Formats: sequence, C-alpha cells, structure tokens
Amino acid sequence: MKALIIGGTRGFGKEVATQFLVRGYDLITIGRSASGYKTYSHYTCDVGNVKDLRDILKKIASQNKSLDALACIAGFTRAKPSAELTTADWEETFAKNLLYVGVAFQELKDLLNGSPNPRVLTIGSQWSYKTGCDELVPYIVAKHALLALTKDFADREPKIRANHYCVPTMDTPQYWEVRKSFQEIAKEKTITNFTPRGLANSKIIAKSLVDKFVKTKTSGSTFVITPDGKIRKIQK
Ligand SMILES: NC(=O)c1ccc[n+]([C@@H]2O[C@H](COP(=O)([O-])OP(=O)(O)OC[C@H]3O[C@@H](n4cnc5c(N)ncnc54)[C@H](OP(=O)(O)O)[C@@H]3O)[C@@H](O)[C@H]2O)c1
Repeated sequence: MKALIIGGTRGFGKEVATQFLVRGYDLITIGRSASGYKTYSHYTCDVGNVKDLRDILKKIASQNKSLDALACIAGFTRAKPSAELTTADWEETFAKNLLYVGVAFQELKDLLNGSPNPRVLTIGSQWSYKTGCDELVPYIVAKHALLALTKDFADREPKIRANHYCVPTMDTPQYWEVRKSFQEIAKEKTITNFTPRGLANSKIIAKSLVDKFVKTKTSGSTFVITPDGKIRKIQK
C-alpha cells in the first residue's frame, strides 16, 4: 500500500506519516524541509508554488501504478484584522490551504482510482464549520471552502472515500507561529481563545485520525476530533 502525505515532514504531518508507516504503508512525502525519516520518495516543495507542485504530482502519477491514500495536511494562517488584509494575504492563504488540494485532486484522481480501496483526507479545524474570528477571516473562508471541495470530490468520485477531518488546537510548530502573529497584532491586549492552555497532543490526534481514516465506510463526511482524540461526525 502506498500513501502520499502532502505536508508530511514536521509537526502534525510527521505524526500522521508515522501512523501510516506503522500500518505498513510506503510513504511518498511533500514538504518544504527534508524528510527526517525513511520514505519511499520525498519531494521538497512549497505547496504555495502551484506550478512546482503540479510538476511533482504529474511525476508521481507517471511513476506509480496506484495510490491507496492521499493525506492533505499542509495549511497556513496568520492573524491579521480583516480591515487590514491585502490581496497577497488572501492569495497566500487560499493557495496554501485550498488551491493545492484542488490541484492534487485533479492530478491524482486516476492514480487513486487505480487502487482497490482508495482514501483521501483533508484537514480542517473548528473554522471549517464556524465563523467569528475577525483576525483569521481568509483562513476561515479557505477551510469552509476546503470542506466543500472535499465533499464535491467525494460526490464526483464514488470509488474514492474522501472525508474532511477537523482537528483541535495542537502543539505544532505552526501553532506557535500563529500565536506569535496574534501577540504582534494585539500588543498588550490579551488574546482569549488562543492560549497554550489545554493544547491537544498531536500524536494522540494523529493516531485517532488515521485509525478512523483506514476503516471509515463513509465518503463526503466531516469529522470533528476532540482534544482527547474522540471523533464525531457532523455531516452526512
Ligand atoms: N496546529 C493547530 O493547532 C491546528 C489547529 C487546527 C487546524 N490545523 C490544521 O492542521 C494542519 C497542519 O497544521 P500544523 O499546525 O499541524 O502544521 P505543522 O505541523 O507546522 O506543519 C504540517 C506539515 O505541513 C508542511 N507544510 C506547511 N506549510 C507548507 C507549505 N507551504 N508547503 C509544503 N509543506 C508545508 C510542514 O512541513 P515543512 O515545514 O517542512 O514544509 C509539515 O510537514 C493544517 O492544515 C492546519 O490548518 C492545525
């Protein structure tokens, strides 16, 4: 069995990749940094560079007969009040949460259909189904759209089980970067709702996610993972 993890090098992505490894998958990974563990193949790429990513995905499609699992983990956000957003802020957030997944669906659809039991996961958060944070508007819009894109892909590709998994706030490198951006814009103001208190452990969340991923029979659903690793379905 073969799995492609887009964003499989560090933090939560590495924990998810480890869960696939222990289940016997051969791993293909994509990330900006080098992969620090054994993979079938690794490609260094920023998913925000659509042309480079498309070239890599075409290469993967031409060099493999089938793909059993696709995990789209990479994501991006930076806190900024919505009144100050620039076109570049919108474009970067869309490219790194949404556009790359659409490109992966286009380029890997046939490879996935070559597997007897193909599965796809996309990663969201509470902001995939809620609104209400003025500092994260492009991210909230992008994750809502990612949920819709995943559902649409599941509807169009009946053989492929594609689901969206909303993870809790976790102890990852990206969390600390986002927290720093909140602190920069707030200056002395205390940020509520975004403190390290009660951060979920990314190992526990990754195990729970991949356990569900390999056995779920549904497609086009959205699952919410709680900080203790429990999972509930919120759609379909
Ligand atoms: N952390 C949280 O609290 C939290 C909460 C809710 C949802 N999420 C979602 O969970 C997912 C993972 O986030 P995370 O915080 O866990 O991040 P992370 O662990 O810091 O990064 C996840 C993986 O994505 C790769 N990556 C990040 N940006 C990339 C880019 N532009 N191009 C290629 N690879 C990239 C990273 O590797 P490289 O650095 O090597 O590129 C890493 O392997 C995201 O979709 C995020 O929106 C996270």
